[in-house]
Amino acid sequence: MKRIKISFEVEIYPDVTALSEQERQLMESAVEAREKAYAPYSKFRVGASALLDNGQVVQGSNQENAAYPAGLCAERVAVFYAGANFPDQSIEMIAITAASNEIDVDKPAAPCGNCRQSLSEYEFKQKKPIVLLLMGEKGEVYKCASISDILPLGFNNSYLP
Ligand code: THU
Repeated sequence: MKRIKISFEVEIYPDVTALSEQERQLMESAVEAREKAYAPYSKFRVGASALLDNGQVVQGSNQENAAYPAGLCAERVAVFYAGANFPDQSIEMIAITAASNEIDVDKPAAPCGNCRQSLSEYEFKQKKPIVLLLMGEKGEVYKCASISDILPLGFNNSYLP
């Protein structure tokens, strides 16, 4: 038997002002996207902004549905839009933020499992890490260097024939 340890580092910034100008702008774009969320059921609004390597920024927000599972998370709205409209551009970085009408989202919002898997598909395809910036409504920002950090031992098309 052998044992491996899988670990990763997260950089924690006290707020957006501590980020680089480009990162701050991307998170501000995600906040703007968050305000356009359609979340009448959960009242939990998520915004995601993806920076492409041509400098284009693509925004997404969660889109809910009366048939709950038909809704889609902000991150997938953003990266599927990027994939559909800019198929040859890689995704450099994605900023994600969440706020609620009912509770204080006082810690960084991390993508759900399905979104991690979807983001990981693009990271694997482009062979270049997608940097993540995560924030609650405001305050601390977590920066992770790659989707594979937050989805260790992930499944990808290298397993498929
Ligand atoms: N949500 C996202 O948009 N991203 C996530 O990674 C987690 C959850 C949305 C889905 C739903 O509209 C609401 O937040 C509550 O789960």
